[in-house]
Amino acid sequence: MKQGKPRHFLRVLDLTSEEIERVLEGAFRLKRQKQAGIQSFPATGKSLGLLFEKPSTRTRVSFEAAMFTLGGQVTFMSSKDLQLQRGEPIKDTARVLSRYLDCVVIRTFGQSVVDEFAEWSEIPVINGLTNEHHPCQALSDIMTVMERKGHDCSGLSVAWVGDGNNVCHSWIELSARLGFSLKVACPKGFEPDEAILKEARTQGAKVEIVEDPVEAVRSAQVINTDVWASMGQEDEAERRREVFMPYQLNSTLLSHAPSDAIVLHCLPAHRGEEITEEVLEGPQSVVWDQAENKMHLAASILFWALDLRDGV
Ligand code: CP
Ligand code: NVA
Repeated sequence: MKQGKPRHFLRVLDLTSEEIERVLEGAFRLKRQKQAGIQSFPATGKSLGLLFEKPSTRTRVSFEAAMFTLGGQVTFMSSKDLQLQRGEPIKDTARVLSRYLDCVVIRTFGQSVVDEFAEWSEIPVINGLTNEHHPCQALSDIMTVMERKGHDCSGLSVAWVGDGNNVCHSWIELSARLGFSLKVACPKGFEPDEAILKEARTQGAKVEIVEDPVEAVRSAQVINTDVWASMGQEDEAERRREVFMPYQLNSTLLSHAPSDAIVLHCLPAHRGEEITEEVLEGPQSVVWDQAENKMHLAASILFWALDLRDGV
C-alpha cells in the first residue's frame, strides 16, 4: 500500500501556477522527443486505469497512447461493465482499484463523483471531464496557444464564445493561474457557474462575462468555442440551437477579430452549429494541433501524477 495522500488533478485550481508551467514545459519536451523518435520508458511496470461513464475519442486514446509511449500499460473500464453499475459504492471502487493500479483517469457526470473517488483513492485521480470541469483539455489548449503566440501568455486576450460550460470553467480557472484575460460571451442563462467564477476571480482570474459575441472577439488573439449541448444535455439540444445561433463562430463573427487570431475547438465539432465548416477548416483554425497536443499533455500529466523520472 502507498504511503501518504496522493495528489489529484480534478480541476485546474488543484495545481499551482508553477506546477502548470512545469507540466506545460514537460509536454513540450515530450512532444520534441516523440518527433525526434527518442524513446524512454519511465512508466515501465505502471498501470493506468481509465474509468469512463461518457463517450470519448480524444481523451481516451490520447491517454492510452501517452501511457504506451511511456512504457506503462492501460486498463479501460466502461462504467457499465463495472459493479458500479449494480450499485457498488464509489468509495469501495476507489479503494479496490487503488490496490491494482497506479493512477486513474475518470470521465463522469457530476464533479462530486470524482471528488468522492479522490477522497477514498490511494492513487492519483485525474479528471478526464465532468459536467463542471475539463482541466486536461484547458492545459492542452493553452499549449497549442503557446506554440502559436509564444510561451508567455500572461498578456493575451482570449475570447470564449458560446456555452459557459465545463471547458469554459477550466479556461476561467486557467486565467487565474496564467494571468491572461478572458472574455466570455454567452446568452443570458447560459453563463458560467457563479461559484466557479467567484473562486477563480478570488484567485486572480481576469474574466469578463458579456452577451455580445462581437465584443468578445474584437481584440482577441485566441477565440475558443465548444458544443452548445454537452454530453448529458441531449434533451436540450433543440432549444439550445435556437438560443445559441447568434453565437455561431462563422466568417462574419471572425471578421470582427484581429486577422491573426487563432480559433480553438476542443472537438467533437458540430459543423453548422457552434462553428462553420469554413472556420473549422480555415487558416485560423488550430484544432488538429490542439487535438494532437492532448496526447503530449496527457504524457506530461502522467509524469506529474506518477512522479516519473526521465532517463533521456
Ligand atoms: N476534447 C475531448 O475531450 O474529446 P473527447 O470527448 O473525444 O475525449
Ligand atoms: N463540453 C463538451 C466537451 C466535450 C469534449 C461536453 O461536455 O460534452
